[in-house]
Amino acid sequence: MDLKGKVVVVTGGGNGIGEALCRRFAAEAPEALVVLDLEQENAERVAAETGGLAYGVDVTDEAALKAVLADVETRFGRIDLLFSNAGIGVFEGPEGFLGPEGNNDAFEKSWAVNVMAHVYGARAVLPGMLARGEGYICSTASAAGLLNQIGSASYGTTKHAAIGFAENIAITYGDRGIKVSVLCPQAVRTRMIGDTDGGSAGQDGILSPEAVAECTVQGIGSEKFLILPHEEVLIYSQRKASDYDRWLQGMQRFRRSLMEQ
Ligand SMILES: NC(=O)c1ccc[n+]([C@@H]2O[C@H](COP(=O)([O-])OP(=O)(O)OC[C@H]3O[C@@H](n4cnc5c(N)ncnc54)[C@H](O)[C@@H]3O)[C@@H](O)[C@H]2O)c1
Repeated sequence: MDLKGKVVVVTGGGNGIGEALCRRFAAEAPEALVVLDLEQENAERVAAETGGLAYGVDVTDEAALKAVLADVETRFGRIDLLFSNAGIGVFEGPEGFLGPEGNNDAFEKSWAVNVMAHVYGARAVLPGMLARGEGYICSTASAAGLLNQIGSASYGTTKHAAIGFAENIAITYGDRGIKVSVLCPQAVRTRMIGDTDGGSAGQDGILSPEAVAECTVQGIGSEKFLILPHEEVLIYSQRKASDYDRWLQGMQRFRRSLMEQ
């Protein structure tokens, strides 16, 4: 999809990857850029700097998200791209999900933001897209949705589910004009991983949000399902698929090495 002249909505657009997506999308001259975030001030800041429109909304509140998306459709006549990017991570200690951070609250909150918000968003925008015979739904999952997450069972589990949902809507609505992509980066320099000041910039593999946004615009341009800013994720996924047990042993070794640091 060429974003020029399109109506684009980004959730979690007030910070990190979502903020970088908004800035990069703005450079493509969309008709409208709509920035949604729980943190309304940040949504307003990003909207003001990108010529967009801001809404403060909790994407886990289906009625509230539906009302915001309906308001956008009323103002601009349609939504061409919904980018469900808002997400959270709850990280556990060495005990894994048996430790205090692996409680039901961590799973339920992560499920609500990382999965159900994608369901609510798609449910709100798909009827209009299907009526027009075109539309694009993109979500930010993670490489953790393909390769799991050492240190967070709730994150690894919900990000797999996010990819499963995206695959399902691609299968179900793809032949009616709906394009679907999932963005699956490894580490990105944002507050989610406690690094916004470039303190780990030299560390292997950490990308800037801007680099991820650039890769995403290219991925949307070519309408690829999997958008992988870290190209090695494709190789790791292929190795996992070709020998699951060997992959698990490698991950166990990797986990031990991280826990010993
Ligand atoms: N940073 C990484 O290393 C990394 C790697 C892979 C995937 N991701 C994913 O990228 C996405 C963006 O994360 P980020 O790293 O930019 O983190 P971030 O914390 O900087 O940004 C997340 C944004 O989502 C918003 N948000 C959270 N819960 C919300 C809710 N209920 N309703 C509305 N907005 C909400 C936050 O206010 C924040 O602005 C997430 O889905 C995350 O899981 C991050």
